[in-house]
Amino acid sequence: MVPTLNITLNSLRKLKAAGEKFSCLTAYDAAFAHTVSTAGIEVILVGDSLGMVLQGRDSTLPVTIEDMIYHTQCVAQGNQGALIMADLPFGSYATAEQTLENSAALMRAGAHLVKLEGGRWLCESVRLLAQNGIPVCAHLGLTPQSVHLFGGFKVQGREHEAARVMLEDAQLLEQAGTALLLLECVPTDLATRFTESVHVPVIGIGAGAGTDAQVLVLHDMLGVTPGRRPRFVKNFMEGQSSIEGAIKAYAEDVKSGQFPAEEHQFTS
Ligand code: KIV
Repeated sequence: MVPTLNITLNSLRKLKAAGEKFSCLTAYDAAFAHTVSTAGIEVILVGDSLGMVLQGRDSTLPVTIEDMIYHTQCVAQGNQGALIMADLPFGSYATAEQTLENSAALMRAGAHLVKLEGGRWLCESVRLLAQNGIPVCAHLGLTPQSVHLFGGFKVQGREHEAARVMLEDAQLLEQAGTALLLLECVPTDLATRFTESVHVPVIGIGAGAGTDAQVLVLHDMLGVTPGRRPRFVKNFMEGQSSIEGAIKAYAEDVKSGQFPAEEHQFTS
């Protein structure tokens, strides 16, 4: 049976306007897409984090557009009405034309919007995608595809100038037509200002409680990722007897504002 698309960008805009939080989780296959969407998560992210989570790499850089198309197709098969956002992987959006070609491939695979990492230099691509009917989410702050430029997975925007540039990038990307913004690993006060300064919904990860929505990597919040757990992650399996219960608890805690708590946030 073809799933009915219940959650649209309009639904997310209405939630922001009403001051109601929404949640996003990664999924990379049909079974988890089914579980996540039926547990009440509004947005499924087919993230290039699959390079680290599924493929065991130490960064997202080795992930290819073919990997992303395959996993987007898998997720689309299991999804029950969530909005599917698919990542453009490293090196797949160097020019506006390449961005359009690869985004169209992800949309044909079942995505409802695509996500790319970066600031104002992406405005031309964002505009071209919007003109071609492809909604975009621009990912700012800690952009993992630039990990080697940053010298590690570090909190971004702590310095006054970096924060100013980030806020300006958001304005420019919004003017270019980005439908959503995603902010990773920035101090809570900056993320809150950022969210208040734009009209489009802002999804945060490690960006505190002031954003319109939260996203986590599914395997992190289920406590099955090996190694050290990042500060912004909560293990939602604790106190739950099923994966479905953990995902529902996450959705409820985001809605009620209980997650992220202070211990999951960064200060300036
Ligand atoms: O790839 C991914 O899962 C992401 C999240 C960390 C936001 O981009």
